[in-house]
Amino acid sequence: MPDPLQSRRTFAIISHPDAGKTTLTEKLLLFGGAIQVAGAVKSNKIKKHATSDFMEIEKQRGISVATSVMAFEYKGLLINLLDTPGHQDFAEDTYRTLTAVDSAVVVIDVAKGVETQTEKLVEVCRMRQTPMMVFINKLDREGKDAFDLLDEVEQKLKLKVTPLSWPVGMGQRFQGVYNLFEKKLCLFKPHHKQGEDETLVIEKLDSKDLETHIGTAAAKTLREELHTLMTVYPPFEVKEYLDGHICPVFFGSAVNNFGVKELLDCFVQISPDPLPRQTEERLVHPEEKKFSGFVFKIHANIDPRHRDRIAFVRVVSGKFERNKPYHLVRQDKDLKFSNPYSFLAAKKEVVDEAFPGDIVGLYDSGNFKIGDSITEGEDLHFKGIPAFSPEQFRYVINNNPLKTKQLNKGIEQLMDEGVAQLFIKEDNGRKIIGTVGALQFDVIQYRLEHEYGASCSYEPLSLHKACWVKSPDAAALKEFITRRKKDLALDKDGKLVYLAESPWALRMVQENHPKIEFRFKSEE
Ligand code: G4P
Repeated sequence: MPDPLQSRRTFAIISHPDAGKTTLTEKLLLFGGAIQVAGAVKSNKIKKHATSDFMEIEKQRGISVATSVMAFEYKGLLINLLDTPGHQDFAEDTYRTLTAVDSAVVVIDVAKGVETQTEKLVEVCRMRQTPMMVFINKLDREGKDAFDLLDEVEQKLKLKVTPLSWPVGMGQRFQGVYNLFEKKLCLFKPHHKQGEDETLVIEKLDSKDLETHIGTAAAKTLREELHTLMTVYPPFEVKEYLDGHICPVFFGSAVNNFGVKELLDCFVQISPDPLPRQTEERLVHPEEKKFSGFVFKIHANIDPRHRDRIAFVRVVSGKFERNKPYHLVRQDKDLKFSNPYSFLAAKKEVVDEAFPGDIVGLYDSGNFKIGDSITEGEDLHFKGIPAFSPEQFRYVINNNPLKTKQLNKGIEQLMDEGVAQLFIKEDNGRKIIGTVGALQFDVIQYRLEHEYGASCSYEPLSLHKACWVKSPDAAALKEFITRRKKDLALDKDGKLVYLAESPWALRMVQENHPKIEFRFKSEE
């Protein structure tokens, strides 16, 4: 058996909806033998155009629990691919999932280039120095010039890039990709299943074979472009990639399964082993003997027939074992898990043990909260699950004062699951819910009613951002709090937040209170 520490790779694919994340996921699973037929993943996906009907989305989300983590084996490695919801109203889920991975693959549509959602997600990865690879997809269609795209990636995503594969033409003229990592050209045949024996490979670029197969003009262009690449882009250094300083870029067409194998083969060679994680107390290394892990996602099934809640735990160190008591640090409580499961082959399966890099799903009756640490007894608090400023805000109105207790409990639990964020106004104690998308407001209302018997409605509130504030200067902070009380609130952890009505208001406040720091996320 290979050493479990060196045989795990845990990553996520991120993209703007429609760039091809699901298609790429599916091709990777096919390579790993985790699924046998195309379409298996697709049917589980939250349909992006579907709807703003959250019940429909919930139904699909229910199905997709099993595919939240898709583990597959490839070339002696166990690869954990963490799914991130495509629907942008669930962006916060995606941010949190990114805290549980060791690297990411960014998919970009060749015609659309870098889109907004990609920018946001990459920013989250960059903040944590997560190593990233870029896959430029849909080369079978007309799109932007490859050099222009590399520039765009560098500028918009603020990533230094170096191509490891290079396209020969695109759209109708797409003929293949030159693999700079392995120094060979693979020729493209639309809709064929790329496999080693079927793909025509040309190893020597100076041979006449190149002209024979791709034509004189394309051969000349390819040689010239490769020459330009050598002079413009630095040679690829694995260490720079692992430190998050440079991103290798690949080109291909996921739907045609072209260029995907190049990406995967390179990924298994260069992507990081399970990485250490920082806690408030110390750095925790995967090779430590004792188990530790953190909860990065909680999935509650809102279908009343299957009212189960599953906490997703990333194993950071040691070995997780079934039926062994573990310590839930926040509650200072020991818990045992008789049915933890893993996700091999896109199925839920009960597991007896799990290793660093693995994700285990734990049935939960309401004990867990996003960000919780679980250990063999040591008081560790894993860092790095920040809350980001919501985009939409509303006051909560209690429709049934007789059910106030239920309402408060319901809201508290839903916030623990990470459905939305709660802020309590400093001046009048009113509750404000902040979300990334409008959908969550319906989810909360529905769940409060069906799970807690409470009823709420909302009052619109026009806010630009929530900013977490702090200052090393206690007097300045005190003055700020006194003067701005009506715009201040506390978040779920009691941290002080300034609610900015507009970018302009925020700028004014920043100018008037230069000693106060304003941040769009809760943890640095
Ligand atoms: P997402 O998860 O990032 O949202 O994207 P998804 O994989 O669903 O892909 C979005 C659309 O782009 C799909 O078409 C998919 O077939 C198509 N696509 C993916 N890769 C390629 C590619 O390499 N070339 C081309 N030409 N298209 C690609 P759709 O019409 O939305 O869905 P479907 O009806 O094909 O399933």
